[in-house]
Amino acid sequence: MVTKTDYAPIFELPQRRLTDLFSAEPDRLSQLSFDAAGMHFDFSKTHLDQPMIAAFLALSGKLGFEEHRRALFAGEIVNPTEGRPAEHPAERGVGKAESVELAKGYQSRMRALIDAIEGEALGPIRHVIHVGIGGSALGPNLLVDALGRDVDRYDVAIVSNVDGAALEAVFRKFDPTATLLAVASKTFTTTETMMNAESVIAWMQEGGVEDPYGRAVALTAAPDKAMEWGVDETRILPFSESVGGRYSLWSSIGFPAALGLGWDAYESLLEGAAEMDRHFKLTPPEQNLPLIAAFADRYYAVVRGLETRAVFAYDERLRLLPSYLQQLEMESNGKSVTIEGEALDIPSSPITWGGVGTDAQHAVFQLLHQGTHVVPVEFIASIDPGHALDDGHHHALLASCFAQGAALMTGKGNDDPARAYPGNRPSSTILLDQVDPRTLGALIAFYEHRTFCNAVLTGINPFDQFGVELGKQMAKEISTEGTGNFDVSTKDLIARAFG
Ligand code: F6P
Repeated sequence: MVTKTDYAPIFELPQRRLTDLFSAEPDRLSQLSFDAAGMHFDFSKTHLDQPMIAAFLALSGKLGFEEHRRALFAGEIVNPTEGRPAEHPAERGVGKAESVELAKGYQSRMRALIDAIEGEALGPIRHVIHVGIGGSALGPNLLVDALGRDVDRYDVAIVSNVDGAALEAVFRKFDPTATLLAVASKTFTTTETMMNAESVIAWMQEGGVEDPYGRAVALTAAPDKAMEWGVDETRILPFSESVGGRYSLWSSIGFPAALGLGWDAYESLLEGAAEMDRHFKLTPPEQNLPLIAAFADRYYAVVRGLETRAVFAYDERLRLLPSYLQQLEMESNGKSVTIEGEALDIPSSPITWGGVGTDAQHAVFQLLHQGTHVVPVEFIASIDPGHALDDGHHHALLASCFAQGAALMTGKGNDDPARAYPGNRPSSTILLDQVDPRTLGALIAFYEHRTFCNAVLTGINPFDQFGVELGKQMAKEISTEGTGNFDVSTKDLIARAFG
């Protein structure tokens, strides 16, 4: 079990201002910036320094980081509460041979179905409605939104919310006779997804589609349930139970991206992620990017007691990245028990939040610069603009991004306290060469492995998510039994809404 005592050597390190660290360490930038997989990582504006890295390396050695990493890639059980391995890297070709083989087989099946759809075997398809939620929606949505802007293949809508307004907005735009339904659910039981899937089927039927189930594709680890629901076996794209929901965009859950962006783009995405897998798997701890990033994360959460971290994408194409990361980080590491089942002695995941630059500067950055909360910030930007507008736009965007990091760190004194900036506020910057499938794949894999490293350094299981179950169960009770055994406040709300 990891305890505060394990972190004692890091608590004992002197807390120095970022600007002092730069003055004291002439090599600071070169020591804390790294290049990998088409990305530049600059951690120099965090409080990491060589003594702190040495202390964290000692801690990760003590906690068996290399053994945990080996077990992950070997496909061993790293999710003991559910008795499962976590084999998302195998989807990218890095992992246990049998699992990689299985994933490749599933991918060939997906490719064959995509070829058939492109060949109009299911009729002329122009639109795709992908229904799924959580990991069965956030990843595909990020990919399609980030990479599909210039691709003219299919109109893809990812619908997650059970709120009918979400589907209705899509129904207004799409022609039911030219629509394919993709039902994405690992378990094929999730209430929101199944309800949305039924509504799409009904809409198709009303729109004159004779056999709407013939236009449905299932992306699932529960093929029997999909078949029972009505999808023909030939249109079920299975994936392995050992791929967790929030790590599933690499499996058939990525179908709308593979169909919407084209197979070559999908393969590049997997290759980019595999490049990061190899970096994570083979690079020694002292140069290992996900691990080093996790050192800073754990320092701020455990030693400084900072409760949130913020991610700002200075790139419109990555506007959905913060919400993707919210699930990845908080559903994985928002736990209060250790992997041994004891009460956690140190803070678990910070709250991940964020937004898009420059918009966020005019909304939330006031607090980042002058609020009483210190928030470690991550900036993500791309050197290539990815649009054809005048260079001035991209120049202004990147100038703002770099200025924010500098301003947070240096601050600025003023005789008027209301106009003073305290500075010493940490940030890291990830500069991508471009936003393309390969780089985005590597970036997402970087975050997955960083999340895993954070779990190892916290001593928790990042691969289960029992915290979401109670609310689901109670919602079911309200739906089936009405007021049931609820408290007076909940009973009153039920009565007001449902009569
Ligand atoms: O409610 C949490 C969760 O289980 C996530 O972990 C998962 O990504 C999501 O629900 C959707 O689950 P499924 O793919 O089984 O529909």
